[in-house]
Amino acid sequence: MHHAASSADPVRNDDAIAPGSWLGLLGGGQLGRMFCMAAQSLGYKVAVLDPGGDSPAGSVADWHLRADYLDNAALRDLAARCRAATTEFENVPAAALEFLSHSARVAPGAQSVAIAQDRIREKTFLATHGFGVAPFTVLREPPDAAAIDPALLPGIVKTARFGYDGKGQIAVATPADVPAAFASMGQACVLERRIDLACEISVIVARDAQHGTVSWPVAENRHRHGILDVSTVPARITPALAQRARETAVAIAGRLGYEGVLCVELFVARDGALLVNEMAPRPHNSGHYTIDACVTSQFEQQARILAGLPLGSTAQHLPAVMVNLLGDIWFEGAAGALREPRWSAVLAHGSAKLHLYGKKEPRRGRKMGHVTCLGETLDAALGTARAIKRTLGIPGDV
Ligand SMILES: Nc1ncnc2c1ncn2[C@@H]1O[C@H](COP(=O)(O)OP(=O)(O)O)[C@@H](O)[C@H]1O
Ligand SMILES: [Mg+2]
Repeated sequence: MHHAASSADPVRNDDAIAPGSWLGLLGGGQLGRMFCMAAQSLGYKVAVLDPGGDSPAGSVADWHLRADYLDNAALRDLAARCRAATTEFENVPAAALEFLSHSARVAPGAQSVAIAQDRIREKTFLATHGFGVAPFTVLREPPDAAAIDPALLPGIVKTARFGYDGKGQIAVATPADVPAAFASMGQACVLERRIDLACEISVIVARDAQHGTVSWPVAENRHRHGILDVSTVPARITPALAQRARETAVAIAGRLGYEGVLCVELFVARDGALLVNEMAPRPHNSGHYTIDACVTSQFEQQARILAGLPLGSTAQHLPAVMVNLLGDIWFEGAAGALREPRWSAVLAHGSAKLHLYGKKEPRRGRKMGHVTCLGETLDAALGTARAIKRTLGIPGDV
């Protein structure tokens, strides 16, 4: 029964999934682990579908279905139990989301995921709808690579699918470099011009079924070897630019008809241009600060959207600097004896919040956890982050 809304009506709750119900999650990584914890805090049970054994999300889930994402029996089990489902990684087969959507609320939808997981579709979508992107061209066949516009150089050849943390990218300086780079990828690619960057930023947005959209404060991101190292929030950019970045991210979510949590990564070019780099159809590493620094985290928002509950405030209570903890810091020196990092020295900073993902095996370059440093001022948070990086032997300034 639907009634016309009036100020006397109680909040309409007829589409909400009650706490105690099951929410489904595709993927078993740390993003899924933090989603499980947020959903469980709201009283939900979470079923995780992930082929891995001892996965970060599987080990905290209420139920772990250990099977392939396209395993029909497992998808049927998940659909039978869960009234809503989401994903924690962008390479989830669109067919799995499509299957679940016949019986459950699925956010984000298969269509949005299919765009975000393919750089060609993603960049074409953005450019078509008037969002600024780095100049690019599509490489599908060898002749495409042999006839590129030299204005795209120096550039980067990026695979259309399955790139992450700087993998699946080759820098190219001259037209002669492009065919070899393309051939070595073994799949369709984009060639994109290298932008002279002032900084990199990201915006997390959340859009619900009623099409309310919220965004969090802009994060300023530094990478090391293609992997996110530090996110500083608020970003050290002008308020006008931050406003434009948030509006851009909200507009992209609207254009996609997006439902769920979306991360939009942007470049701030030295000439002042704001360009969209890429988007991730899920919570993002650069949004981890929201757990400790905001009223509602990106993961809680993901659970709220799935359950059909109102969106929470994205207000930030304190400046924050998030430092990623990679497996490298478990190794002593270059030869590399394994030992536990000095967590007591980290936690001696009372406003440092430590998150570890429960991964058994530290490997170099593997995301093992993160620390969010809070401060009354951004300088205070930056100071704590610098001290912790030094303590743990993480190179690079913040
Ligand atoms: N066109 C570009 N110009 C300058 N730097 C770039 C460009 N494309 C990528 N990069 C650098 O490489 C990083 C990783 O590239 P990205 O496209 O975001 O791939 P990934 O999927 O690995 O995150 C970016 O965060 C940025 O530092
Ligand atoms: Mg990226």
